[in-house]
Amino acid sequence: MTPAPFPAARLRRLRRTRALREMVQENGFSARDLIWPVFIREGENVADPIPSLPGVARLSLDRLMAAADRALELGIPAICLFPYTDPALRTEGCEEAWNPENLTNRAIRMLKARAPGLMVMTDIALDPYNANGHDGFVVNGEIVNDETVAALVRMGLAQAEAGADILGPSDMMDGRIGALRLALEADGHRDVAILSYAAKFASAFYGPFRDAVGATGRLVGDKATYQINPANASEALACVARDLAEGADMVMVKPGMPYLDICRAVKDRFERPTFAYQVSGEYAMLMAAAQNGWLDGDKVMFESMMAFKRAGCDGVLSYFAPRLAEALRD
Ligand code: PBG
Repeated sequence: MTPAPFPAARLRRLRRTRALREMVQENGFSARDLIWPVFIREGENVADPIPSLPGVARLSLDRLMAAADRALELGIPAICLFPYTDPALRTEGCEEAWNPENLTNRAIRMLKARAPGLMVMTDIALDPYNANGHDGFVVNGEIVNDETVAALVRMGLAQAEAGADILGPSDMMDGRIGALRLALEADGHRDVAILSYAAKFASAFYGPFRDAVGATGRLVGDKATYQINPANASEALACVARDLAEGADMVMVKPGMPYLDICRAVKDRFERPTFAYQVSGEYAMLMAAAQNGWLDGDKVMFESMMAFKRAGCDGVLSYFAPRLAEALRD
């Protein structure tokens, strides 16, 4: 609706005081909208800082339990696990990915025993276990789709068996959601949710994450034959439509801030639970500028969160999750 002409309409009238501004505020967010990505590693009582992700560390499982307590206390509903795999366990066959005793599956069982009310999300892709850093099997230099999907299904079933609440396929193979959903139903895991990394772009913003999981330096080539070309919006919507049709309960757009147009389009078109991943590079950029005194860290953190809500996101995966929740509480 067009406002009346000036001076009948003075849009500044409702911006005059803080109370008026808050009264007419259109969007808001809370700790309930957050999923906290956490890197895990072997060992005892270690928190191994990741230089390209200031304030983020790889946690041994005892330290992960402390993080879970903190999440509960702060009202963060879910944690998403990303393993740093021992280099000796990274193979061409990626067998460790579906080992029921791998680091992630042990972490899931410990978390569910410690804090059953905290939702545990996992990542499904072969990259933490692959000798060459790819999300799928590599045969003669090509990432093979259907063989990878079969492996991803085994990996997802092992995670569901361990007690994961939400599975996050991040691999971008074709047909993985349908195959996973079918296998979950057949195996009696009817209520395990799938949050599909549906619109995942071939982005350079994942750099610090690859440092964190130890994929940097291992990755041979790039992921352009499976992740979406950053120039394409229609293709991203096709991926979301396909994943929802195959049985995804929720969908994700990734990265987040450079792709807010995609978030809005996905929410408007599909009207399903829509998440954005504020990825490692986005977090690193804001943190680096804040550390230099060039930006106000807290303010850009809040503003970026509001941007996701304004773009239609129901929730956000963010490395800022604990800091945000703490700031919201105070
Ligand atoms: C791996 C995966 C990636 C991220 C989440 N899962 C990296 C990639 O696809 O190379 C990126 C997350 C981030 O950058 O914070 N399948």
